[in-house]
Amino acid sequence: MQTFGCQMNVYDSERLLSLLLSEGHRITRNPEEADIIVLNTCSVRERAERRALGRLSDFYRFKQKNPDVMLVVTGCMAQRMGKDLTGMMPYLDMVLGPDQIFQLPAYLQNSKDNSRVAVCSSREDFDSQKIWEQEILPERKTPFTSFAAISRGCNNFCSYCVVPYVRGPERHRPIHQIVREIQLLAESGCKEVSLIGQNVNSYKFEGKDFADLLQMASDQTNIDWIRFVTSHPKDLSEKLIEKIATLPKTCEHIHLPLQSGSDRILKKMNRKYTSQDYLKLVERINERIEDVSLSTDIIVGFPTETREDFERTLDMMKKVEFDSAFMFRYSVREGTKAASFVDDVPEEEKLGRLHILIGLQKEISKKKNLRLLGKTFQVLVDERSRKDKDKWKGKTKSNKTVIVEGNEDVLGKIVTVKINDADSFTLFGTLQE
Ligand code: 5AD
Ligand code: SF4
Repeated sequence: MQTFGCQMNVYDSERLLSLLLSEGHRITRNPEEADIIVLNTCSVRERAERRALGRLSDFYRFKQKNPDVMLVVTGCMAQRMGKDLTGMMPYLDMVLGPDQIFQLPAYLQNSKDNSRVAVCSSREDFDSQKIWEQEILPERKTPFTSFAAISRGCNNFCSYCVVPYVRGPERHRPIHQIVREIQLLAESGCKEVSLIGQNVNSYKFEGKDFADLLQMASDQTNIDWIRFVTSHPKDLSEKLIEKIATLPKTCEHIHLPLQSGSDRILKKMNRKYTSQDYLKLVERINERIEDVSLSTDIIVGFPTETREDFERTLDMMKKVEFDSAFMFRYSVREGTKAASFVDDVPEEEKLGRLHILIGLQKEISKKKNLRLLGKTFQVLVDERSRKDKDKWKGKTKSNKTVIVEGNEDVLGKIVTVKINDADSFTLFGTLQE
């Protein structure tokens, strides 16, 4: 199983793995040994699709050696390209969109006697609530942290974005199922859950909203920490800020995609807020939530973006001082509203702007991290440091990565760490008693 893209895709892959394991399949780290190869794909930018297509042609080698190998493409690119994919690559066995991914075990059963190619990306006749029904805990990299989806799809139609087309309309998971999944995770030794949805702030189920869900997850489960992504600025309510500020289990980190600092571009992007609205929201968050950290997504080179528009984005980055940011060059996505605009910012200019933005953010991240020297934080240690095998890696509630010295005992624990060094991306610290 190889996964491209967002946390929702990682979660889908982990759940699919778990489902396949429960049916008697086993995982191999060596693709040459695999009987089934699944590539879970992303369509959000062209580059992600190009990489997935490259990977699929690599996998063809295994199929040539052993024609019995099943080659399965799932996720957003499977949904977007459907039959075109099997047209391009007739050796593919199955193409399943994000809503059909969990039907793979059933298809594997059928494929024993039927023809192999199943292109299934139609949402018709599909009972969307069925996807949640099976209690499948994701098969994860570490047992101490997990994702849990609270919704699927998106209704926002930001003009650049393919997600509403490939992942379909927003559907909310029944609240009791989410709470039950969190409790099952806690019982299995998981310390932290990240609630995921394209826009968690618009969650609604039988009169309950996202703030109510945080309250229920806090009160009714034994999980230690609760994170959530992504928050659309237009839907982040005062009630939710209040919950984050007051519920001890809720992590004080908000991923709040700004996308652009220019009001003209924000309007063209269909984001439904202005830079002033955004600044007011940030002010309120900073006032109310102690030690909060903010991260964001930015797109540079959106159609018609001038140097001045880009300067507005730089201004916003300086004003807000995000702790971290994901920054992208605009990529035309067929079928979206923005695909009808002329992609008029030259590639070189997009790259230049991206470079400036990344440089600025790196400085800001470092400055913010250096302010934390001497402070102590709770850190959930979830794996060994890759660079230094004597050290451990974890995260603070504010989503900062921390490297700490210690023995094996710290793994899977929430420990107290005093910070004594920092760079743009990482804090370094020592264990406190
Ligand atoms: N081009 C570049 N970046 C995009 N994103 C979404 N669509 C595009 C696109 N067409 C970015 C947005 C979003 C993040 C997940 O990906 O910033 O928040
Ligand atoms: Fe895409 Fe906008 Fe939905 Fe995010 S909120 S998934 S950017 S359409």
